Amino acid sequence: DLKVGNVAAGGGHHEDEDYPDPFPDDEGYREHLAEEYNSLTHENYLKWEFVQPEEGEYDFSAADAVVEFAQEHGMDVRGHALSWHSQNPEWLEEGDFSEDELREILEDHVRTVVSRYAGCIQQWDAANEIFDDDEDASIRDGEDGNIWIRELGEEILDDIFLWAHEEDPDALLFYNDYNVDGVNAKSDAYYELIEEQLDRGVPVHGFGSQTHLSMLYGFDDSYRENLERFADLGLHTAVTEIDVRGEVDEDDVMSQDDRVGAAERYVSVLEDCLAVDNCDSFTIWGTLDEHSWVPNTFEGEGDATLHKRSDDGGFERKPTYCAIQRTL
Ligand code: XIL
Repeated sequence: DLKVGNVAAGGGHHEDEDYPDPFPDDEGYREHLAEEYNSLTHENYLKWEFVQPEEGEYDFSAADAVVEFAQEHGMDVRGHALSWHSQNPEWLEEGDFSEDELREILEDHVRTVVSRYAGCIQQWDAANEIFDDDEDASIRDGEDGNIWIRELGEEILDDIFLWAHEEDPDALLFYNDYNVDGVNAKSDAYYELIEEQLDRGVPVHGFGSQTHLSMLYGFDDSYRENLERFADLGLHTAVTEIDVRGEVDEDDVMSQDDRVGAAERYVSVLEDCLAVDNCDSFTIWGTLDEHSWVPNTFEGEGDATLHKRSDDGGFERKPTYCAIQRTL
């Protein structure tokens, strides 16, 4: 029962007019999500800057709306993310806190958020992107790195998983990262860390591969092998944020060759997930290009999602959609 997911908050930040989020305002968009997908995730609304915009003041209004919608439509929810180096509120990143205070802030946040959604969110990205992209995939403990690891040491990761597990013993707790689309230095770093944590009894349950891919950079052929080795550790795996982008023309469309290649890669990742035990969710990072983070983030690239807005304002299925449909 693979869950083919999608980002509920299928666009950028709601307050950003150039990069709006259609979820709160666009009923047609919400209907589309319920029709096409069976699981949702919050693209941004469960990140620290949204959930705890001021110290100690939680705001769940946007996040709740997505969870409520998912429940009304019998959809699962992936929670993203309990800890990360990015999209943290200024009060936190610029604040002057002692180690004890920071620990308390983190514990309170993790417990508050996970307990609120206990039973309603099936998978959590407990720690997002903790390793860097450098050659030896060092842990992000530098100046611009992960505040928790930098200030409290790597051991804090154990606590994040333990606290979250205490608040919702049924939720599956994941590590999640990009550029772990095969066996490489970064995925090795996760493998080693998780193996050690499991030996210590830390409740780590899953490894998520974001899978942000581009036709410009080619693909790794060890995707399945990588998922398999995590499955062999007894973990769940998930494709958590897939999109396959490419260079686009003035109509924001890839070349036909690239479209074929991108569809093939989507299918290949889906087949890998289907072939691996306990790879049980496949989340596409956005459903329409006009809301996707790709054109806003990677200049000149796009066409990365499964649907495009048709002239009458509907949701046209791209060939990639049909290729995925045929694979399921
Ligand atoms: C992105 C969102 O899609 C954007 O709207 C936001 O501006 C920045 O973050 N890895 C992650 C996601 O774990 O949270 C990121 O989402 C994409 C990369």
